[in-house]
Amino acid sequence: MADRNTTEVSEAQIAAHWKEEEYYYPSAKFISQANLVDADIDKKFGLDNFPESFKGYADLLDWYKYWHTTLDSSNPPFWKWFAGGQLNVSHNCIDRHLDKNKGKAAIIFVPELEEEQPVAVTYQELYVRVNETAALLRDYAGLKKGDRVTIHMPMTPELPVTMLACARLGVIHSVVFGGFSGMACGDRIADSGSRVLITSDGYYRNGQIQNHKEKADIAVKRAKELGAQVDKVLVWRRHPGKYISSTPMVNGRDYFMDELLKDYRGKRVAPVPVAAEDPLFLMYTSGTTGKPKGIQHSTGGYLAYVAGTSKNILDIHPEDIYWCMADIGWITGHSYIVYGPLALGTTSVIYEGVPTYPDAGRPWRIAQQLDVNIFHTAPTSIRQLRKLGPEEPRKYDYHFKLMVTVGEPIEPDVWRWYYNEVGKKEAVIVDTWWQTENGGFLCSTKPALNPMKPGSAGPGVPGIHPVIYDENGDELPPGTQKAGNICIRNPWPGIMQTIWGDPDRFVATYYAKYCKNRQSKNWRDWPYFAGDGALYAADGYIRILGRVDDVINVAGHRLGTKELESACLTVPEVAEAAVVPVVDQIKGRIPEVYIALKPGVSLDHGEVQKKVVSAIEDIIGKIARPSHVWVAEDMPKTRSGKIMRRVLAAVSNNMDVGDVTTLANPDIVEHIKIMVQSRAKREASTGTPEDIKRFGQNE
Ligand code: PRX
Repeated sequence: MADRNTTEVSEAQIAAHWKEEEYYYPSAKFISQANLVDADIDKKFGLDNFPESFKGYADLLDWYKYWHTTLDSSNPPFWKWFAGGQLNVSHNCIDRHLDKNKGKAAIIFVPELEEEQPVAVTYQELYVRVNETAALLRDYAGLKKGDRVTIHMPMTPELPVTMLACARLGVIHSVVFGGFSGMACGDRIADSGSRVLITSDGYYRNGQIQNHKEKADIAVKRAKELGAQVDKVLVWRRHPGKYISSTPMVNGRDYFMDELLKDYRGKRVAPVPVAAEDPLFLMYTSGTTGKPKGIQHSTGGYLAYVAGTSKNILDIHPEDIYWCMADIGWITGHSYIVYGPLALGTTSVIYEGVPTYPDAGRPWRIAQQLDVNIFHTAPTSIRQLRKLGPEEPRKYDYHFKLMVTVGEPIEPDVWRWYYNEVGKKEAVIVDTWWQTENGGFLCSTKPALNPMKPGSAGPGVPGIHPVIYDENGDELPPGTQKAGNICIRNPWPGIMQTIWGDPDRFVATYYAKYCKNRQSKNWRDWPYFAGDGALYAADGYIRILGRVDDVINVAGHRLGTKELESACLTVPEVAEAAVVPVVDQIKGRIPEVYIALKPGVSLDHGEVQKKVVSAIEDIIGKIARPSHVWVAEDMPKTRSGKIMRRVLAAVSNNMDVGDVTTLANPDIVEHIKIMVQSRAKREASTGTPEDIKRFGQNE
């Protein structure tokens, strides 16, 4: 673990404390059945063969019109993959599998309540449901190619059905994670310009019915305040025919999908051919500023990339039973629950609820019952399952051939539990590093070809050429023992196209930092800046250290500190707010809030704290709930008046604040320290504090 005595640790010092872990090797049994066993794969995907190397991924798909240019890089950094090509995603994920596999399960839905049995949706049934839904969206909701639609739904089969129905029509979907608040949904509706909101009445979480429909009303109101009119709210019911929300339906605006669908029984909609470069979806994510970014993904490049990486890295075969426990409302769910697995014609499991309901044996019972052989989750869930049921996996007869970890760095110790207990020492683990913006995996071991190293993602996946730069733009080659900013040298088919409605922000966020010549038309001059700190080991494996911007990774979910701070500032009594990450044993990081009150506020501090917490929950969602709200007399500030979040982060994490004498108000730091550190001592952290140290570097 790194030195905890100073916040001014240099990158080199951080790295010096890195302990090398030993390798683990894939079994002969795994290798004998793996998709990717070609030892020359890296050469084939080398930069000498770029971009034609990606042709094989596009050839996994059916095209109405084959493309003429693999990569059109004439307008950097707005890359166009498979230019000239035409395809349809819904055809690729459904129709083309019908000839051979119409009776096979495309999706198996596992309800949270254990007394409800899993429901298999065959490829034929998916075809029928997607066609009927597409007919409804086209003929009743008036949606057509290029329109945007916001989908705010929980984990039920109707979510992928709706996404695929949009894709069938060329409608651009914007799925908002079901756990986000109505306000957050409303912001995204307005930014994307959706006229239709598709939602659901409710779902089960921890055994309780959640009233989801109430969020739709708030979302529509919020969108209206922002100047966006929602004409129709289409409501799927968790139990068709039975409404489980207590929120009334609004006459002339809200409609039940199951009722409307009666008029579309048996309807078929020919898949609409779209250009490879037409957008498939938007996914909003957090960044440095308060406004979430609408990450725009393409159709052809995206689908080719998720199909190719699902095959090579997840080792998906059509006969596998694959279960990714992420939520479809995040990029992992889009790429690796819906589009990648279905493009390959496999069976994808969708679980409605929380992994530990009703107990920590649940995932393993599901795996046993369905004979899941590929399992995909995040370190947060692994930590939670280990804590609550360290020996549970042994009780169940299931066998994974491959397991995935994604979303946050995994501690080597947690990795070993995953390997030994969950994987029963049989399964290969891939630690996949990537982001919403990337469409698919960037770094990971190739499961049959590379050994695993706990805590390290691995080298770039085929065709991805990572480079680590220091702040001056000098390369830090493998083995230098210094951490820097990870970038990707080359474009790849899954890369985002732009930020919806904000191309300048796209260029500024991802390319400006290391592009030496903004006039250059050569892709080599445009490395992609990921916003993560990383270390390149001598063996070419990459260890991700965490975000270098003001983003907090809570349980694998990205939250922008500025978004949280703006939410705090909506409380009238709050004058200033600062949000910092605190290391948490299970969730990795949790936000902690500092506020200063306006002069003359007479409200009890406890009341203000409650108001701040509910403002955050209302504006963003419960996932952003802070561990604590501290009411400070003032914030530590530089002489120019900037709040020093880095100092607050050090206090919150029991780390030394370093030299604060140059601050405008150094005394306040001591006051805050006494207030914060006088509370019961926190549990010892298992997290690595590197990103806490980096935190606020931009100040
Ligand atoms: O900091 C990295 C972390 O998650 C961030 C991306 O978050 P998001 O866009 O929500 O996508 C998450 C799922 C793809 C990254 O910038 N991250 C993601 N995967 C890993 C990771 N950190 C360490 N190891 C990983 N495997």
